[in-house]
Amino acid sequence: MKRPILWLAIVLLLVLSVNVYSDDDEHKWKQWFSGAASDIRPVTNQLYKQECASCHMAYQPGLLPAASWKGVMSGLQDHFGENAELNAEDVAIILDYLQQDAADKSNFGRSAAFARNTSEQQLRITESRYFVRKHDEVPSRFIKDERIGSWSNCIACHVSADKGVYDEHDVSIPGVGHWDD
Ligand code: HEC
Ligand code: HEC
Repeated sequence: MKRPILWLAIVLLLVLSVNVYSDDDEHKWKQWFSGAASDIRPVTNQLYKQECASCHMAYQPGLLPAASWKGVMSGLQDHFGENAELNAEDVAIILDYLQQDAADKSNFGRSAAFARNTSEQQLRITESRYFVRKHDEVPSRFIKDERIGSWSNCIACHVSADKGVYDEHDVSIPGVGHWDD
């Protein structure tokens, strides 16, 4: 090895490119560049908070692609076994908001990961490949605790979910405690 500096530079480049190309690190890089503290843009629309957060948390628009939100908003009379119907005017306003901030429109890295891994037919965040992959080491018996109840109850474990923060270091599971993998 005649040129140690050159070799060092090549190794560094390789390490960096491996990092940039994994979903998560891509998200962290983008976050550094944008200076954002959240993984996903927090909810900003009051009507959405008022109408869509009585039975569960207000899911950030950036958790589902625009096509999925359209599907959710066009089936509110039979919404996962509940009637969540709204008047046409409110549906239009909320759908517009959800579409503008949807995962495939957002520049937040975590949203990009959700967008890439959710099909247009999917109406659930929890069915996206990204969600499933991220939780495959979390035992599903945890959700039997009545304080959790369902994978859809993000904020039971992700204590800062309402701020759009889903980092694995910001997780505390009821009955289990701080998550350390
Ligand atoms: C009457 C209660 C109720 C209202 C109001 C309601 N939802 Fe839901 N929502 C539910 C239930 C129940 C589920 C399924 C939760 C579960 O499986 O644990 C659900 C699930 C969801 C999911 C899928 C979560 C997952 O599993 O990934 C989305 C997205 C969603 N709701 C969006 C909305 C939107 C948008 C609105 C407002 C237009 C809304 N919800 C209003 C009851 C409601
Ligand atoms: C039972 C508790 C629990 C629930 C409910 C839950 N999560 Fe998680 N989530 C975790 C744990 C634990 C991890 C870290 C897993 C690991 O590191 O292997 C995680 C990881 C994640 C990650 C990746 C974080 C990172 O740093 O890479 C995202 C994104 C995420 N969850 C989003 C969600 C969303 C969105 C919901 C609701 C629709 C949700 N989670 C519901 C426990 C939960």
